[in-house]
Amino acid sequence: MAIARKGKLIVTKIMTNTQANYTDNFDPAIYLNDYFLVAPEVEDIFVAQFIIEAIKKMPSNLLTLDFGSGPVLSAEAVLAPQSREIHMCDYVPVSLDLLRAWVDDTPKAFNWAPYIKMALKEAGEPTTLESVAQRTTEMRRKITRLMHCNALSETPLGDNAIQYDLVVAESVTENVATSLTEWIQVMRNISSLVLPEGWLLICVLNDGKGYFVKEKFFSCIDLSNEDIRQGYLDVGYDPDTFYIETIASPGERGYSKLTCAVARKFGSPA
Ligand SMILES: C[S@@+](CC[C@H](N)C(=O)[O-])C[C@H]1O[C@@H](n2cnc3c(N)ncnc32)[C@H](O)[C@@H]1O
Repeated sequence: MAIARKGKLIVTKIMTNTQANYTDNFDPAIYLNDYFLVAPEVEDIFVAQFIIEAIKKMPSNLLTLDFGSGPVLSAEAVLAPQSREIHMCDYVPVSLDLLRAWVDDTPKAFNWAPYIKMALKEAGEPTTLESVAQRTTEMRRKITRLMHCNALSETPLGDNAIQYDLVVAESVTENVATSLTEWIQVMRNISSLVLPEGWLLICVLNDGKGYFVKEKFFSCIDLSNEDIRQGYLDVGYDPDTFYIETIASPGERGYSKLTCAVARKFGSPA
């Protein structure tokens, strides 16, 4: 999510981060139009670059999960070549409908071409119409499952007991948790989906209290980089593999920093 808002914000509703808040108030279509309608901005490029660098250390042929993906396909544009399959999940059913519309190439599908072009450019690949079309086809082929998930559950995918080589959770964990203690539980819940020696990559909005979607404000907890590092260690990640990067944001959407982090989970005890 990126794109600094031009113009004045009028706050009519402050949303607290409960599950009902997302089902009742988070409109994935409005989120898309508010954050992704215009060309990718600095924050989107930062996240793409972070993922590109992070996956260089990972095996090829990843089984990848985008957790709390919303209706958004920007990460998939980067992840597709190194993934054998990509699964996506979200708490809000309409997010999954919008993803399905894109995967099925229906007329109402959102246009992700600018983000696919950005992913190609950042990876140093050709950005011709043909390259964008090829990456689009690859994404559609590799996105094989769209599921409901709940970060607040110890079984976040319900009966789907799948574990992944890589789980990506962008702008999710800090939205769902209402305290640092709950955030660590959310990390533990999501981490249950990561295979031993698999990777967890998160991005969080920080240095603020939340984010706007049009006039609605969704609250987040504010995590320091040390909180994030400690959270990874608490839920079983190798500190030697931990990597974190932060970028300043314009601050017009409620937060003034965006941070991405990644680490590899310890293997099973011998
Ligand atoms: C700010 S959006 C981020 C979407 C996308 N990952 C991105 O980077 O733009 C937050 C997402 O968290 C999802 N979400 C909210 N509560 C959740 C929960 N309990 N479990 C999983 N996802 C949840 C929302 O439906 C929404 O899609």
